[in-house]
Amino acid sequence: MRTPIIAGNWKMNKTLAEARTLVSAMRDDLAQLARDGKIEIVLCPPFIAIPQVAELVAGSPIRVGAQNVHWESKGAFTGEIAPAMLNEICDYVIIGHSERRQFFSETDQGVNKKIKAALAHHLKPIVCVGENLAQNEAGQTDALVGAQVRAAFQDISRDDARGIIIAYEPIWAIGTGKAASGAGANAVIGITIRGALADLYGEEIAQAVRVQYGGSVTPKNVAEFFAQPDIDGALVGGASLVAADFVAICQAANPKGR
Ligand code: 13P
Repeated sequence: MRTPIIAGNWKMNKTLAEARTLVSAMRDDLAQLARDGKIEIVLCPPFIAIPQVAELVAGSPIRVGAQNVHWESKGAFTGEIAPAMLNEICDYVIIGHSERRQFFSETDQGVNKKIKAALAHHLKPIVCVGENLAQNEAGQTDALVGAQVRAAFQDISRDDARGIIIAYEPIWAIGTGKAASGAGANAVIGITIRGALADLYGEEIAQAVRVQYGGSVTPKNVAEFFAQPDIDGALVGGASLVAADFVAICQAANPKGR
């Protein structure tokens, strides 16, 4: 049994004051939904808000994550944040989001280095993969996403691989209101992503790793994703910025949580 994991990626949104308002509005409901351990809920605010959000959810089952990390442990890397700085205040880190690959030139090799650095500092990576519209229309999804998974997991041990979370986020579905179909996302996750993991580590690990869907997830469409056998949760962007929407999405993952 894989425990569903729902993460809110706030991206570059919310001032400290806004972050406080948002977390205060949903904290009690989220804590209630996650209390029995049947689902995991992670909030990923911008770096600067992480300490405040961590303090607001302290003592609750709600977890906190970052949106990026550098692979070096310290030094002359102006503007970057090291894994040892994060593991004092949060448990998860999103790595290789398509926006970082697209706008900040992140490569598969960099993603692999970041995953290793995160693991070395006991941060749980949420590793993003996904194809763009042109690649999707050209029938390249399987080859591209498979290659992203293989590159991300290069030289990562079986034990470490087991604890990594993958987010399948087709780029054409992010922020567009045009989500993938449940069946379509399930096929990429079940066949391509778990297939790549099976090649690398065997079937047991392929079935143990949790894989989220991300891309225009809303309270309206989320049930379609959670009904799929290979989808273990969601990485939520826009809807994670609205307390009622994020609570409703988490509620769909743990309908008996109330
Ligand atoms: P949206 O939910 O806004 O489409 O964003 C998805 C995403 O990129 C989460 O990481």
